[in-house]
Amino acid sequence: MNKPACATMEQPQIRPYTLSLSSGARAALKHQQPCCLWLTGLSGAGKSTLANLLELRLNELGLHTFVLDGDNVRTGLCRDLGMDAQARKENIRRMSEVARLMVEAGLVVIVSAISPFRVERDAARALFATGQFFEVYISTPFDTCAQRDPKGLYKAAREGRIKNFTGLDSPYEAPLQAECEIDTASMALPEAIRCLLQLLQR
Ligand code: ADX
Repeated sequence: MNKPACATMEQPQIRPYTLSLSSGARAALKHQQPCCLWLTGLSGAGKSTLANLLELRLNELGLHTFVLDGDNVRTGLCRDLGMDAQARKENIRRMSEVARLMVEAGLVVIVSAISPFRVERDAARALFATGQFFEVYISTPFDTCAQRDPKGLYKAAREGRIKNFTGLDSPYEAPLQAECEIDTASMALPEAIRCLLQLLQR
């Protein structure tokens, strides 16, 4: 993968412009506290389903939201990225930065991405103020995800048609200190949504 120009270079010619309107003022108009809920877990763990249902519920409650879903973002902003470790790192960096911008805009952002590496998730967390970032580990076991196999990807990976498949020939590093853990094999969806709402209310 080609590195984006200037990704790691010093850029003395770039001086961030300080905007007069604070992110607090933007959020105040929406009567909400913006934050980022980061769902991580294996493919097929239930991240997108949960993100989708949670956003519907938050919308009913009158909150301004957005879901950044890995598959969706990979059709646009990240369509140039593959699935090797370096590309995933860049994918998560971009998703983190977009999530941060959306939080600055005053939204409640739900990120739903495998985000397999701890260091990238920690880097995402570091972009936010304390109490603005919640890591949620969707800990549905590998065997359950492989059995569900909603897109036939586990089968394809086992047959060698897909490389770098998370949990098979590419690692998944489980969070060590997630704010919340949900195993969709043992927890029903309504209960999982209740847990996530409680987390946000905190
Ligand atoms: S991440 O690892 O970079 O965070 P992301 O969540 O954006 O991944 O995208 C994962 C999606 O890509 C999965 O939902 C799955 O549909 C698809 N996919 C395609 N190839 C792979 C692969 N090798 N490993 C995991 N998911 C894959």
